[in-house]
Amino acid sequence: MKAVIYTRYGEPDVLRLADVPTPVPGDREVLIRVRAAEATKSDCEFRSFRYSVKWFWLPLRIAVGVSRPRRRILGGYFAGEVVSVGARVTRFAPGDQVYGSAGLRLGGYGEYVALSERAAIAPKPRNMTFDEAAAVPLGGLNALHFMRRAAIRPGEQVLILGAGGSIGAHAVQLANSMGAQVTAVDHGIKESLVRRLGAGDFIDYTTDDVTTAGRRFDVIFDMVPASPYRRLIGMLNPGGRYLNGNPRLSVLVRSVLTTRFTDKTVTVAFAPETTEALATLTELIEADKIRSIVDRVYPMSEAADAHRRVETEQRLGAVVITIGEP
Ligand SMILES: NC(=O)c1ccc[n+]([C@@H]2O[C@H](COP(=O)([O-])OP(=O)(O)OC[C@H]3O[C@@H](n4cnc5c(N)ncnc54)[C@H](OP(=O)(O)O)[C@@H]3O)[C@@H](O)[C@H]2O)c1
Repeated sequence: MKAVIYTRYGEPDVLRLADVPTPVPGDREVLIRVRAAEATKSDCEFRSFRYSVKWFWLPLRIAVGVSRPRRRILGGYFAGEVVSVGARVTRFAPGDQVYGSAGLRLGGYGEYVALSERAAIAPKPRNMTFDEAAAVPLGGLNALHFMRRAAIRPGEQVLILGAGGSIGAHAVQLANSMGAQVTAVDHGIKESLVRRLGAGDFIDYTTDDVTTAGRRFDVIFDMVPASPYRRLIGMLNPGGRYLNGNPRLSVLVRSVLTTRFTDKTVTVAFAPETTEALATLTELIEADKIRSIVDRVYPMSEAADAHRRVETEQRLGAVVITIGEP
C-alpha cells in the first residue's frame, strides 16, 4: 500500500510517499481503508519532536523511538471504511464507514490501518464527508472530555484560550451547546470563525491581554502552553473551574494545591479517547449541534505542505490529507 512515512525526526520535508506492506488484522482487529486523515499539531510534534511543554519529552521519546521514529506512519485521526475484520470481531463488518482515533499506534497516513475493534472507532456521521469526519476526532474527543469535566451549567461564563485550534474550536461549540456564554481567545484572523461557532465575545491575544480586562469566568479552558497560571486562577468566580489540556510541570504541581486549598478546581489531564465519547460526537453532529471546519485538503503527495500549513498557524480549521486515490 501507499503511505506517507518518515524515518527521521525533522522538518516537514522528512515526510515522503512510499510503498509499505499492508497491515494484516489480528483476530480482534479491523482493517480500515483510510480515506482521509487530519494533519494535526500532534502529528507535527511527533515528526519534529519539538514540544513547547517539556516535561514529557524524555518518556515520550523513549516510547516513540530514541534515535529514529519506531512507527514510520503518522496519523492519529482518520475516517475510512472497514474492508475486513478478524475472526472474533463483533462490532464491525466490511463496508462500515467509520471515523476515529488510532491512538499511539498511529498509521492514519497509510492507505490501510489495522486497529483493535475496542479502539476509539465509531460509525462516521451520516451528514459528513470523509474529509469532514477526519477533522472531528482529535478536537471533538479532547474538547468533549474537558467540557464534560467542566460540568458547565446554562448561562455560565466560559473562557477558552486557543479557541481557534483543533481542540478549542470544538470546545467553543460544545460549551455553546451546553448553554454557556463563550469568550474566545486566539489570533485575530480566527475571530469570525470562532464567532460563527458560537463565541459571543472574542479577544485577540496578539493585541490584548485577557488577564488585564477585569473579567471573571466560571470556567476557563486553556490549551495554550505557558499561560499565566496565577492570573488565570485569579479570574475565576467562586467555585470556578480551570482546565488545562497542555500543562507544564509547574502547573501539574500547583493544580493540586489550588484544588486542595481554595474554592477553585483545577483539572489537568490527557483526555482518554473512548468509543462512547465518539458515539456522543456522532449524535451531536447528526443533530447539527457541532460541525467540522476544514481549512484545506491536501493529497498524500503533498503531506509536507499540509504540515507546513499546520505549523505556520494561518489555517482556519483543520488541515486534512486525502489518503489513497481521491
Ligand atoms: N491534553 C490532551 O489530551 C491533548 C491532546 C491532544 C493535543 N494536546 C496538545 O494541545 C495543544 C493544542 O492542540 P490543538 O491541536 O488544538 O492545537 P492547535 O490546533 O494548534 O491550536 C492552538 C491554538 O492556540 C492559539 N494560541 C497560541 N498562543 C495563544 C495564546 N497565547 N492565547 C490564545 N491562543 C493562542 C493558536 O493560534 P496561533 O495561530 O496564533 O498560533 C491556535 O489557534 C497541542 O500542543 C497538543 O499537543 C493535548
